[in-house]
Amino acid sequence: MKLNQCSWTFLSYFLALVHTGNGAAVKDFSDEVGYHIIYSYPGVQPPAHLNTLIEQGKVGGIIIFGENVADNLSTIIDGFQETYKQSAFYSGSPLLILTDQEGGEVRRLPGGPISSAKQIGQSTDPASAAKKSGSDAASALGADHLNGNLAPVLDIYRQAGNFIDESGRSYGNTSAIVATCASAFTEAQQRAGFIATAKHFPGLGAAGAGENTDEEPVTINLGIDELRSVDEAPYSKVISAGIDMVMTSWALYPALDAKYPSGLSTAWVQDELRGRLGFKGVTITDAIEAGALQAFGDDPSRAILASQAGMDIILASGRNVTQGEAIYDSLLAALNDGSLSSGEFSQATDRILSLRKRLT
Ligand SMILES: *[C@@H]1O[C@H](CO)[C@@H](O)[C@H](O)[C@H]1NC(C)=O
Ligand SMILES: *[C@@H]1O[C@H](CO)[C@@H](O)[C@H](O)[C@H]1NC(C)=O
Ligand SMILES: *[C@@H]1O[C@H](CO)[C@@H](O)[C@H](O)[C@H]1NC(C)=O
Repeated sequence: MKLNQCSWTFLSYFLALVHTGNGAAVKDFSDEVGYHIIYSYPGVQPPAHLNTLIEQGKVGGIIIFGENVADNLSTIIDGFQETYKQSAFYSGSPLLILTDQEGGEVRRLPGGPISSAKQIGQSTDPASAAKKSGSDAASALGADHLNGNLAPVLDIYRQAGNFIDESGRSYGNTSAIVATCASAFTEAQQRAGFIATAKHFPGLGAAGAGENTDEEPVTINLGIDELRSVDEAPYSKVISAGIDMVMTSWALYPALDAKYPSGLSTAWVQDELRGRLGFKGVTITDAIEAGALQAFGDDPSRAILASQAGMDIILASGRNVTQGEAIYDSLLAALNDGSLSSGEFSQATDRILSLRKRLT
């Protein structure tokens, strides 16, 4: 009897140890990590494996590119949402289905906005042209059953024909015109029920012609005063207008961080965007496979760095489902070994879910 009790006590103690590890409750993050990852796929017909990953709760959303667009895109997207809804991991809110429907040349879906940001900024009534452009973007997203847009662009171009101006993607060369247009676009699109995203924080407007972070490292050597008074000024305006998401840039801004590009930088993401500008919404990275990040390891390692810096959503836009899956595995491992803070990660999950709930 005495021996039995002793064995039982020992067994309970042993089980408790296995269950709680070092005295702290072991949390299972496998349900949570998927919310943080946007996937992409090649061509018009998604690979069956993407549906399997959705069923396993490993997918937070999908970004649609031109190569994915066919007449039946809305049916394919309905299929993703239905697979998710039937899964054991359904959260009660839809997957995020995003695209770049900025206007002008940068439009992945059929439909508007036909005018580029530049044309809107130069029109006789930029505020009402931008408002119509936001409504047109919402119509195009709605027609194909998407629910979010990686627009408007808040970059303020410095030189005619530079990186952001060459495709007419900047509303103009002053904070005032960009703030007016971007907030009108945001309000119109979000009022129609679609997520808007201000990009590329803190700004790519000074990147020269051909300085493309998708391809190579880009350094923007502006002083903090100019970055704040010019490039960040429109962010204050769209944050007041209630913008849902902010996408960070992959350029390096030595004014605040000489080592990490904005989207990998605690100084930019936490201190500047959340701290100084008071942004409380969801942050999303630019393409994690970008050439600008060549010094920061493979995509899964970059995803850990971005999450450690405070980025909520990782954009795996390499048109390769395996890319998102590898990022899922790396984030889960980083949470389990403690290299990624579980408290901050769960706060990010809460932000993502409260955004998604508004889409239902
Ligand atoms: C969608 O259309 C493409 C051709 O445009 C076809 O290859 C594909 O099988 C269709 N997919 C579905 C789910 O209907
Ligand atoms: C913006 O561009 C206009 C027209 O090219 C030019 O006159 C003006 O000086 C520029 N403003 C700034 C702040 O660069
Ligand atoms: C897809 O992504 C994985 C993980 O990032 C990588 O190992 C693989 O080479 C990629 N495949 C293609 C076809 O790009």
